[in-house]
Amino acid sequence: MSNGPYVVKEQPGEKYWCACGRSANPPYCDGAHERLKTGKTPIRVVIDSPKEVAWCGCRRSGNKPFCDGAHKNPE
Ligand code: FES
Repeated sequence: MSNGPYVVKEQPGEKYWCACGRSANPPYCDGAHERLKTGKTPIRVVIDSPKEVAWCGCRRSGNKPFCDGAHKNPE
């Protein structure tokens, strides 16, 4: 898990952002939420053109799955 965002140059396609924090391949879901019965499910995003995406790494964003700067706020 990361405190700040995962900034990735994404290619078009379907992405699944890990909402549970247990994926071994963050920021993407790897199915750990099912194995570990976290009660969370990933958020699906369709990227339509190549772009840089700042994926939330702290899971506190008000605009999940994207970073909104919430990682800078005290918990
Ligand atoms: S592994 Fe975290 S939501 Fe799927």
